[in-house]
Amino acid sequence: MVSSGENLKKSAAEKALKLVEDGMVLGLGTGSTVKFFLFGLSEMVKEGIRITGVPTSVETANLANKLGIKVDENFSGQIDLDVDGADEVDPSGHLIKGGGGALLREKIVAHNSRKVCIIVDKSKFKNKIGEFGVPIEVFEFQHANTQKNIEKLGAKCILRKQGEFRTDNGNLVLDCDFGIIENPEKLEILIKTIPGVAEVGIFNGLCHTLLIGTPEGVKRIDIGSA
Ligand code: A5P
Repeated sequence: MVSSGENLKKSAAEKALKLVEDGMVLGLGTGSTVKFFLFGLSEMVKEGIRITGVPTSVETANLANKLGIKVDENFSGQIDLDVDGADEVDPSGHLIKGGGGALLREKIVAHNSRKVCIIVDKSKFKNKIGEFGVPIEVFEFQHANTQKNIEKLGAKCILRKQGEFRTDNGNLVLDCDFGIIENPEKLEILIKTIPGVAEVGIFNGLCHTLLIGTPEGVKRIDIGSA
């Protein structure tokens, strides 16, 4: 029986490895849960499976390289399967992402993937998303005005690490508290249309399969409408 947070993450990652097939192009997410997936994938590569990874961050690209996983950041075409973590998920597959600051590349890779599998431990599974806050990647230019415009939507925002944090794209991150989000679809669009916003950490319609590590085993939820 697995119970610690790390073991629950590992068990979800190991289930995701079962979805990997020879010849696939894989989106490689970012974060501590995905690391377990990469460790397992590296073993599969050593055993002869041929896959190409599209990494969602410099951190993931570096780790994949170190583990002998072939990466192609500029892969063009449809990715077969994207495996990524999340900061919060709900039963409909709405996600909060960006705790690690990789949200922009993560959303691009998810959008270009035929299937997206999200791996989390049970602490991330909520009835409704929002408690974690919403990471928003913004351009440095006029960022204080961008923040004010986001706050007009009803949030309180904090500049991550007082502006010292930079994403892989050289941008800033605002951590925004909107409270519990009743309508993630609407909020994503409202934030995304503010000039100065590079990407918002609300992901809608981008999750096909949720694998949730629990002490009782890995719970799988397939999202019909994604
Ligand atoms: C990276 O920016 C995030 O979206 C991660 O996917 C998310 O923070 C999950 O990371 P952990 O698996 O480390 O919790």
